[in-house]
Amino acid sequence: MDHIVIRGGNRLSGEIPISGAKNAALPLMVASLLTDAPLVLTNIPNLADIAQLADILRHLGVEIALEGEASGPGRHMRLRARDLTGAEAPYDMVRKMRASFFVLGPLVARAHKARVSLPGGCAIGTRPVDLHIKGLEALGARIELDAGYVVAEAPGGLKGGHFRFPMVSVGASESVLMAAALADGETVLENVALEPEVQDLARLVVAMGGRIEGIGTRTLHIQGVSRLNGATFEVLPDRIEAGTYAMAVATTGGDVELVGARYRDLEALGDVLERCDVTFRATNRGIHVYRNGARHRGVDVATDPYPGFPTDLQAQLMAFLATADGVSHISETIFENRFMHVPELARMGAQIEVHGQVATVTGVERLKGAPVMATDLRASVGLVVAGLAAEGETIVNRVYHLDRGFERLEEKLSRCGADIQRARA
Ligand code: EPZ
Repeated sequence: MDHIVIRGGNRLSGEIPISGAKNAALPLMVASLLTDAPLVLTNIPNLADIAQLADILRHLGVEIALEGEASGPGRHMRLRARDLTGAEAPYDMVRKMRASFFVLGPLVARAHKARVSLPGGCAIGTRPVDLHIKGLEALGARIELDAGYVVAEAPGGLKGGHFRFPMVSVGASESVLMAAALADGETVLENVALEPEVQDLARLVVAMGGRIEGIGTRTLHIQGVSRLNGATFEVLPDRIEAGTYAMAVATTGGDVELVGARYRDLEALGDVLERCDVTFRATNRGIHVYRNGARHRGVDVATDPYPGFPTDLQAQLMAFLATADGVSHISETIFENRFMHVPELARMGAQIEVHGQVATVTGVERLKGAPVMATDLRASVGLVVAGLAAEGETIVNRVYHLDRGFERLEEKLSRCGADIQRARA
C-alpha cells in the first residue's frame, strides 16, 4: 500500500493552486438527479470521493462523462439523469462515503421513491441521519427503516412544508433543499447551514430554474417547480484544502500565495492565524500566508458551523499548535470522536491531553518524525502538516484517506520546497 514519506524542516515558499472543493462538488453532482437535462460542472477536482459518487450515480441511471483538462478549472463533468433506472443506492456503495446518502432527497423528489443504505464514511463519530429523514417527512415522505436501508416513498410527489433543523447540518440542509425544489408548493426551512457549499448548491438549483429565496441566511423559502432545467456551474475553490496549506505554511514558516482561494470563506481561520502572529491576507489572486522564523503563539479555538472555525481544519490546527509557544485549547463541538490524530501526534512528541471534547495542547519546540497513520481524511493531512515541520522522517500510512480529498498533494507541496514523496510499501 502507498505511503507518504516526508523529511521535515523545509520552509515553504511559492504558489499553491487551489482545486475545486470536494464538499461542494459532491452535492452538486447529486443535484443532477433532479432533472433529465444535462448538468455540466466545471473545476471538478480529481479525487477518489468524486469517482466513488460518480459510480453510485451511474448505478442510479446517470450518464457521466469527464471532459476537458486532467485537472484544474478546465476539468468538467457532464451528468445527465435522463431516466432514473434504479432508485436504490446499495450498501456496498454507500458505506464508503457518507455524502452518497445525500441522494435520498433528490431521488424521492423526482422518482417518488428511494431505497438508500444507511451510510458509512469517515470514522469521526456516530453521525446519524435523523435530520435528513425528519426534513423529508416534513415534505410528506413516508420513511421506514428496513434491514439497514432507509426506504422513502411519496406517492403523488412531495408537498411543500415547514421544517426547522434542530441543529445545523450541512448534509441534511443540502438533501432537504434539493427535495423541496421539486415539491408541490412552498417550503420554509429554518436554521439552514450557511456553509459556502450549501449556499452554492442553492445557487445551482436557482440556475436550474428553481425558486429559492434567502440564500446566505438561515431561512430559505423554496417555491417548488414541476421541472428543473440543466445548467453549467463552476465548483467553488476548496476552503479546506486552502486552509490546510495555510496551516502547513504557518507550521513550517514561509511565504506562499494560495492561488484561487477565497478569503471570505476562511475568515475564521484568518482570525486564528493572525492571533498567532501569522500573516493571512487576501490578494487579488487568492490568499497570502506568511510566517517568519519566530515561534508562533498558542491560542484557544472552538470548532463551529460556518462562519465559525471549521471542524475539517481542526486536526491541521492541532498539528500547528503542537509547536506553538504556550498552551492552547481546542474544543471540538461538531463531532464527538474527532481527536483520533492525538495519539499519532503524541508519537511525534506533541504534548496533548484530551478531556471530553477539549484538547489541551502544550507547545513543544520541535516535533520529531515518526511512522504514523490516521483513520480519516483530515486527521491524515494533519499528520502531513506535522511531518512537514518535524525533525527527521515521517511516514504517513493509509494514503488512500488523503486521496479522497487532496488532489496532487505531494506535487503541490514539493513545488513549494517540501521534501515529500509517495512510496510503495
Ligand atoms: C459535512 O458532513 C462534510 N461532508 C464534512 O466533511 C464536515 O465535517 C461536516 O459537514 C461539518 O462541517 C460533506 O460535505 C460531504 P453535518 P455532514 O450533517 O453533512 C449531526 C470531510 O472530511 N447530525 O453538518 O455529514 C452530526 O452527527 C467531511 O470532508 C445529526 O445528528 O455533517 C454532526 O454531529 C467529514 N443528524 C453534526 O450534526 C443528522 O441527520 C454536523 O454534521 C445529520 C447530522
